[in-house]
Amino acid sequence: MRSRICGTGSALPKREVTNDDLSKIMDTSDEWIKSRTGIGARHLAVEETLTQLAAQAASQALQEAGVRSEELDMIIAATLSADNILPSLSCELQRELGAKNAVAFDINAACSGFLFALQTADAYIRCGQCQKILIVGGEILSKMVDWNDRSTCVLFGDGAGAAVIQGSETPGILSSVSGSDGAKGEALFCKNRENHNPYVKGATEVSYVSMNGQEVYKFAVRTVPKAILEAVNKAGLLIEDIDLFVLHQANMRIIESVSKRLKVPIEKFPVNLETCGNISAGSVPVLLDAVNQKGMLKKGDKIVLAGFGAGLSWGACVLVW
Ligand code: COA
Repeated sequence: MRSRICGTGSALPKREVTNDDLSKIMDTSDEWIKSRTGIGARHLAVEETLTQLAAQAASQALQEAGVRSEELDMIIAATLSADNILPSLSCELQRELGAKNAVAFDINAACSGFLFALQTADAYIRCGQCQKILIVGGEILSKMVDWNDRSTCVLFGDGAGAAVIQGSETPGILSSVSGSDGAKGEALFCKNRENHNPYVKGATEVSYVSMNGQEVYKFAVRTVPKAILEAVNKAGLLIEDIDLFVLHQANMRIIESVSKRLKVPIEKFPVNLETCGNISAGSVPVLLDAVNQKGMLKKGDKIVLAGFGAGLSWGACVLVW
């Protein structure tokens, strides 16, 4: 048994915040942000919870797939910014959707999270344990970044994307590659709440996302093309056979560098970071849904999905639409 994506969905918070809006509340400019990242705006959650965004994206994906929520065997949510530490986003989603027959769990692999969720779903279907799996990638990173640190807060946005993965006689997902380098974890870092049990001395502090931008940039431009090539080879294809490259939307310069290193025209790399910023685990599924809804994916098209980020971690998949 193989697996394929048979429905996608996405949801963004209503509030759009442009670079010019940010320049009114901090020392930054549209010119600085756009020229270094390609980001023009992002959506920030004001009233929405991540569970609501994920449920909206999931409902669309289920509808397109023609799958009822009770038919789901499993829900996997990729996030580092769930509404609660307990219960998980996936369990919250199960309740919202009424997916009472599913087992639900979360994956925290930051910006690689959706790829890891997809690879996990593929493995469960291939081994025969599941037939229908909902995967979601989503974040409300605006609550995790330091709004006094202009070098990180301008980069991220909020949102969620979803896909339904189903067992299939004909292959959808052809190959997967993934990896981690925990030794470089400090390049993109955020501490959990401090231990404050009665035996620990010292004040508790809140931690925000911190990043060594140049370290992350170097890692991404080296690792992502390598992982993509490996996944394409593993699928028995050539890089020229790929119709579309749906990459994690961190930075336009990273995407341009990957396109150059792979010698693939930039037109094959759809982007939404102009309006969405970096949605971490939500970025690949939100973009995948956008290209799907625009009719850019035809049956038989060969697509690469790739994510990379904190961990450090990376993942790539080749699939036939
Ligand atoms: N607005 C204006 N100035 C800013 C700024 C902002 N939002 N953020 C930082 N700066 C300033 C800094 O204070 C620094 O000023 P200084 O030189 O006077 O100290 C200067 O800009 C640094 O600029 P530069 O050296 O050009 O930064 P950079 O080329 O490394 O670009 C990133 C920064 C973050 C855009 C770049 O490193 C990057 O894209 N890295 C990858 C990050 C990423 O994708 N992370 C997510 C991965 S999942």
